[in-house]
Amino acid sequence: MWSIGVIAYILLCGSRPFWARTESGIFRAVLKADPNFDEAPWPSLSTNAVDFVKRLLNKDYRKRLTASQALSHPWLANYHDARIPLDMIIYKTVKSYICSSPLRKAALGAVAKTLTVTELGYLRDQFMSLGPNKSGFITMQNFKSALMKNCTDAVKDSRVLDFVHMVSSLQYKKIDFEEFGAAAISIHQLEAMGNWEQLARRAYDLFEKDGNRPIMIEELASELGLSPSIPVHVVLQDWIRHADGKLSFLGFVRLLHGASSCSFQKA
Ligand SMILES: *[C@@H]1O[C@H](CO)[C@@H](O)[C@H](O)[C@H]1NC(C)=O
Ligand SMILES: *[C@@H]1O[C@H](CO)[C@@H](O)[C@H](O)[C@H]1NC(C)=O
Repeated sequence: MWSIGVIAYILLCGSRPFWARTESGIFRAVLKADPNFDEAPWPSLSTNAVDFVKRLLNKDYRKRLTASQALSHPWLANYHDARIPLDMIIYKTVKSYICSSPLRKAALGAVAKTLTVTELGYLRDQFMSLGPNKSGFITMQNFKSALMKNCTDAVKDSRVLDFVHMVSSLQYKKIDFEEFGAAAISIHQLEAMGNWEQLARRAYDLFEKDGNRPIMIEELASELGLSPSIPVHVVLQDWIRHADGKLSFLGFVRLLHGASSCSFQKA
């Protein structure tokens, strides 16, 4: 996806996003430099085109568009009728959601309620590809059967299938679209959006109304998978509101990221 970002950048403006006279200089630029979006022709290009390239050239792979998301991006979406494949990031986020505590699930649910129509539309399409039954529910088995239906050789040769077997064997009841929204969002990706701060504030307000509750520092530390060797009272004191012992905004955002033990290993 990064390479597609580089190629799209070159196709749009004729120069390279990262350049230097030596190879090591180029590598340094890839790691450290931000591509130039200020000079011509960038200001005259459509915001969708610029957004597409910027979101592929995000140095944090967790914030970069996935292949399915890129195909559904508004810059491309109107010009082709490609079938949007299942998005593997959703398998990962759903797995992380399922092994989360009820408190984190409530926090993610609050974020899901603030999503835009476009973001919900993408999630709706993904949900439909998982083949919900007539009452609008999927179970973990749907994750496997949906993928197996159109399994390519590349997928068979990769470790994707092991992962999908693992997800589909998780013991979890059933998921409707509302819960799927909470389970499928990627907090890293939302953070990469310009409006993340407002979105998180709005989600926190919703969480305050029904979801937030008093929590002990030790309990929060274990929610977040912090090791006992960390001085939790120092680290976490801003994450709990002193007035009522409930999660502060900072604690809420931290909780959204989840416990490290539950988070996904780098592929
Ligand atoms: C849909 O699936 C859920 C969960 O397995 C089940 O409870 C429900 O009865 C199913 N509905 C139909 C119409 O099959
Ligand atoms: C599998 O591929 C066929 C043909 O390309 C397509 O019609 C169908 O919708 C696909 N199924 C899924 C679950 O993506």
